[in-house]
Amino acid sequence: MVDLRDLAVPVVAAPMAGGPTTPELVVATNNAGGMGQLAAGYLTPERVASDIAAVRAGGVETFGVNIFVPEAEPVDREAVARYRDHILEYAASLGVDLPTADELGDDDDHFDAKIALMCDERIPFVSFAFGCPSPDVVSELRRHGCSVGVTVTTADDAVLAAGTGADWLCVQGPDAGGHRSVFDRRTEPPTQPLNDLVRAVRARVELPMVAAGGVATPERADRVRSLGPVAVQVGTVLLRTHEAGTKPAHASALADAARTETVVTRAFSGRPARALRNRFIDRFDGAAVAEYPAVNTLTGGLRRAAAADPDGINLWAGTGFREAVVESASDTVRRLG
Ligand SMILES: Cc1cc2nc3c(=O)[nH]c(=O)nc-3n(C[C@H](O)[C@H](O)[C@H](O)COP(=O)(O)O)c2cc1C
Repeated sequence: MVDLRDLAVPVVAAPMAGGPTTPELVVATNNAGGMGQLAAGYLTPERVASDIAAVRAGGVETFGVNIFVPEAEPVDREAVARYRDHILEYAASLGVDLPTADELGDDDDHFDAKIALMCDERIPFVSFAFGCPSPDVVSELRRHGCSVGVTVTTADDAVLAAGTGADWLCVQGPDAGGHRSVFDRRTEPPTQPLNDLVRAVRARVELPMVAAGGVATPERADRVRSLGPVAVQVGTVLLRTHEAGTKPAHASALADAARTETVVTRAFSGRPARALRNRFIDRFDGAAVAEYPAVNTLTGGLRRAAAADPDGINLWAGTGFREAVVESASDTVRRLG
């Protein structure tokens, strides 16, 4: 089994579901000596298989694939219906027909098929977000040569993840762009700063750690690695690179001097996520409910209809968003190594 401690450059590209991660981004990260990860979230298993083939066709063997763990608690349809009422008028203004709350059920994002694919393809690194995989899933993956990582946001979750037999942890701090990887979607996302969280996890768990969240400069990367993690995991700083598939409205908002603030919101998906503040958040955050994945599906049509409007889409961004520049991802990865 490959080991994260062997990376030539201690930088891991965050898996970024929803478009930003492409096979090209993974290849560029590996070419610079780091490690890329595909994002399997929201995709069909067939599409994930074709992305894996594209990474391998690019000459890369040591890479990761990231999978969302299904929700433990079923969706509360009454809460979804309440949120639906709040966004109904906006949906009508865009000419979008919203699905009804009854049509928005629980969805496991093809979890079993994705695990089977990881085993068949013997993916070197499989990481999980949004929850803790069961010990059975972890041992099945390990039996197929996959090294298993779990994303955690608290030291208690790190202990739980270690108990499954996982090989490594992605320790995610509060400055991270995109979704916070809380195990229970209804808990408030922890605010313990990344350096403190890393120290707290290290005091209780011996597994190798990758540290994520707001790491966008060489100084920040060196500082957090000096506390023990074998690598940093970076997302936002890669969003404007040539190889990223970030939507144009998202990429240009990151560089827009008028956008000065990121906030954590459940308005788009029901799970807490950090994004550049925009009108969608200002209008709907107060009414949002913690009902992932139903809220994600509910707002999906609105976000597609407003794809070119930075005030109508989820502009995922960590606090280091000002450091995201237009260049090759290989250059970004080398700079942070
Ligand atoms: C656009 C975007 C999409 C993301 N999608 C995922 C994902 O699919 N799976 C995951 O584990 N983390 C995802 N994350 C979180 C990253 O793994 C990581 O924790 C975060 O990017 C680190 O903080 P930074 O953005 O400040 O570098 C995403 C982050 C961003 C910015």
